[in-house]
Amino acid sequence: METNGLRHQFSRGDYVVNGLDLRVPEGSIYGFLGPNGAGKTTTLRLILGLLKRQGGQIDIFGKPLEHHRVAILKKTGSLIDSPSFYGHLTAVENLLVFQKLYQCRKARINEVLELVGLTDTGTKNAGRFSLGMKQRLGIAIALLYNPPFLILDEPTNGLDPNGMIEIREMLIRINQQQGVSILVSSHLLAEMEKLVSHVGIINKGQLVYQGTLGQLMAKRQQALQIVWDTSDSARAMEVLNGRHTAQKLDESKLVTPDLTKMQIGAINRELVEAGVAVYEISGNNKDLESIFINLIGN
Ligand SMILES: Nc1ncnc2c1ncn2[C@@H]1O[C@H](COP(=O)(O)OP(=O)(O)OP(=O)(O)O)[C@@H](O)[C@H]1O
Ligand SMILES: [Mg+2]
Repeated sequence: METNGLRHQFSRGDYVVNGLDLRVPEGSIYGFLGPNGAGKTTTLRLILGLLKRQGGQIDIFGKPLEHHRVAILKKTGSLIDSPSFYGHLTAVENLLVFQKLYQCRKARINEVLELVGLTDTGTKNAGRFSLGMKQRLGIAIALLYNPPFLILDEPTNGLDPNGMIEIREMLIRINQQQGVSILVSSHLLAEMEKLVSHVGIINKGQLVYQGTLGQLMAKRQQALQIVWDTSDSARAMEVLNGRHTAQKLDESKLVTPDLTKMQIGAINRELVEAGVAVYEISGNNKDLESIFINLIGN
């Protein structure tokens, strides 16, 4: 799936999606990230043809959405907002309804129940499912037609840590076993880190980052700093004498960019020889969350 210059405004002049060039490679799990109100849901609605396209281009399976809408949407499963199913029916009964609608194989029902981990819900009505189970039933319905592409808007929203892990493991299973490409939105980068192969981060309708998770991780590596906890940081600054762009944090701590082990050992020796006691040398590895905050500039 790719978009080029995708735009959308609800009121004149106020673009909530503002020139998006998304690239979701085949076979990927693409994490679509951004804070509340960034434009994630609007973008996903546009991609699914649920909102009328105003500007820009959307291609899925290599074809423009505007000319191949039905063929493309037949091959795209989705879950936007809360899943819709019948609360007074069981998981299997619900899936039977959709199986008739979609005209797919009956045997597919057990396959999708297996995939989402809902095989043992028996006679329990879906209305009495937990939030996580409802979410998984919604995804089972989206998978019935055997789509090679799945679009999910914040599927873990409101779930407890266990529910989040279940959804995550399920999505990995669907991606690996069935080869389904997945576009999934979230505002939690730390959670996506364990799931996605690619990341797109938007803020105020514009992409601020797009690339593989590995490239984003490399950014984190670049942000690594060494914190020196000493008896006298002013004296330590004198010893360093402008080298390594050291910065004083407070009376005892100073910080340098990442250094080699040799450099760390040498500086440590110099400090001790100059009468500065070194209590701790630690790597201040910025987490993904702070990179995310930096990218969205707040
Ligand atoms: N139907 C609508 N009419 C007018 N404005 C809308 C409509 N839907 C969304 N917006 C506005 O568009 C902007 C983007 O909203 P959107 O729902 O796409 O963000 P989001 O990234 O999905 O946020 P969240 O994380 O809260 O779900 C927001 O400012 C929102 O108020
Ligand atoms: Mg949203």
